[in-house]
Amino acid sequence: MTKTAGGLTKLPLKPLLLLLLAFVFPERLRWLSSFEKMDIFDNSDLEYLVDEFHGFFDSEDDEPTGEVNVKSGGDSDFMDSDFEDDFDSTQSKTKSDTTAFEARNGEDIQGIPWERLNYSRDEYREKRLLQYKNFESLFRSRQELDKECLQVEKGKNFYEFQFNTRLVKSTIAHFQLRNLLWATSKHDVYFMKNYSLIHWSPLLQRGKEVLNVAKPIVPTMEQPGLLSHSLSRVQISTMAVKDDLIVAGGFQGELLCKKINEPGVAFCTKLTSAENDITNSVDIYNAPSGSLRVMTANNDCTVRLFDATNFTFINSFAFDWSVNNVSASPDGKLVAVLGDSPECLLTDAVSGKVVHGLQGHLDYSFSSAWHPNGQILATGNQDTTCRLWDVRNLSESLKVLKGNMGAIRALKFTCDGRFLAMAEPADFVHVFDTEAGYGSCQEIDLFGEIAGISFSPDTEALFVSVADRTYGSLLEFNRKRNRSYLDSIF
Ligand SMILES: *[C@@H]1O[C@H](CO)[C@@H](O)[C@H](O)[C@H]1NC(C)=O
Ligand SMILES: *[C@@H]1O[C@H](CO)[C@@H](O)[C@H](O)[C@H]1NC(C)=O
Ligand SMILES: *[C@@H]1O[C@H](CO)[C@@H](O)[C@H](O)[C@H]1NC(C)=O
Ligand SMILES: *[C@@H]1O[C@H](CO)[C@@H](O)[C@H](O)[C@H]1NC(C)=O
Ligand SMILES: *[C@@H]1O[C@H](CO)[C@@H](O)[C@H](O)[C@H]1NC(C)=O
Ligand SMILES: *[C@@H]1O[C@H](CO)[C@@H](O)[C@H](O)[C@H]1NC(C)=O
Repeated sequence: MTKTAGGLTKLPLKPLLLLLLAFVFPERLRWLSSFEKMDIFDNSDLEYLVDEFHGFFDSEDDEPTGEVNVKSGGDSDFMDSDFEDDFDSTQSKTKSDTTAFEARNGEDIQGIPWERLNYSRDEYREKRLLQYKNFESLFRSRQELDKECLQVEKGKNFYEFQFNTRLVKSTIAHFQLRNLLWATSKHDVYFMKNYSLIHWSPLLQRGKEVLNVAKPIVPTMEQPGLLSHSLSRVQISTMAVKDDLIVAGGFQGELLCKKINEPGVAFCTKLTSAENDITNSVDIYNAPSGSLRVMTANNDCTVRLFDATNFTFINSFAFDWSVNNVSASPDGKLVAVLGDSPECLLTDAVSGKVVHGLQGHLDYSFSSAWHPNGQILATGNQDTTCRLWDVRNLSESLKVLKGNMGAIRALKFTCDGRFLAMAEPADFVHVFDTEAGYGSCQEIDLFGEIAGISFSPDTEALFVSVADRTYGSLLEFNRKRNRSYLDSIF
């Protein structure tokens, strides 16, 4: 995606940009002035600013310490209970966590001390909405778009704020790829923090490094014909976690597969030989035969399939453009292929043949999700919309859902199909009620870059990870159950 999106061509600019930033932003209250200064950068630079410079919210608060003590050793706890002894624990609690109780009493859910700042939250929100520049690859007129979009009733509260912890700070490797958070249960969350893949237990409030990809990685599985390849210093661009398997993709076309319960990395390889063929997307899915598969999508325009138990290569399919996201339908028969094209493709999972082209989006697409019933496909695009497609009639999209300011970079349905969560690159996650025809919605409003969103498989929790040097955190929202029957009793 980055070839045209300008991502990689901008890489050499990084040191310069950082220098510039160091010059432009004063040490303190950097984020307050940041939106005023931002217009000196063009679109793509803005994205880099945000990408490279997570200090968007740097204020007088120091980073909570403790969590920076990631040991590079494989299985080390980095948040041992004794870390709190290192400093005043009462203070650390108020600094790093926000509870539902505190939020109900008017505290900011991310712990941003608005009362100490010169702008109110509302004023800052207004400015952000006015000044945020969405990254576009194609500059097409979006005049007609608003007319097409579904009128949605906002203000619902399907998932209630439960907890925010700044002990969890995710990082993003590439500004267009925001699929770096996975919950395999309410109590098991996986995310990336620089070169560490970390498991976080919201129950124990404890994190553990599961894999360190800065060190050389030698695959443990040996088998003739396996295309494995030792790796080191992998910048994880995307990941997927399902049951006991973690699959991750890297900036230079890497693929890593790790069994959670086994030490080391079972299988890893470089999918491409070119330097910049970023692995944009990895997926774990069940083929119609029932066997588990790993699917990858790269900037080299190729989708590859592997067996997820012995990691043998199964097949590859080439397309005309860089593939940014793929997702297999629940029955494993269809694959949505999205990339550097306004057209999305529905392909046959076995032959790779295009079954249908999906037309309507105006820019490149980066995310997709299937409703568990297999009838609805959601596609997320840089044109700031998500389109819903009914596989029974693909002549045009069924509905268009619009974000507030940015591209739709992540989409997830709950396992029961009731809700669709849709994330922008920063600040907004929208949760739609599918049973209301997507016409009613909860808008989660926060500040910062979103590294990923994930529902727990039991649908009870929604996690959102924010990548920011100071206010980076993991937010947990819990599904609100209808308890009106209790109200009528008491
Ligand atoms: C905040 O506003 C006050 C009054 O307008 C001003 O004196 C002060 O310098 C401002 N502080 C910052 C950090 O901008
Ligand atoms: C990631 O690494 C950079 C550079 O070493 C460091 O400044 C930053 O604090 C790290 N981020 C997190 C979330 O640990
Ligand atoms: C890998 O597993 C698949 C089925 O899961 C099987 O068809 C294939 O023969 C296996 N390959 C090897 C080399 O064991
Ligand atoms: C498919 O949808 C289009 C547009 O809504 C409609 O015009 C067409 O009749 C539908 N086709 C079928 C076979 O239902
Ligand atoms: C495609 O995007 C969706 C939504 O962000 C994500 O859930 C899915 O895992 C992505 N697919 C792959 C293969 O990365
Ligand atoms: C909750 O229950 C009431 C009464 O049974 C019903 O009217 C309402 O629609 C329910 N709300 C949801 C969100 O299910």
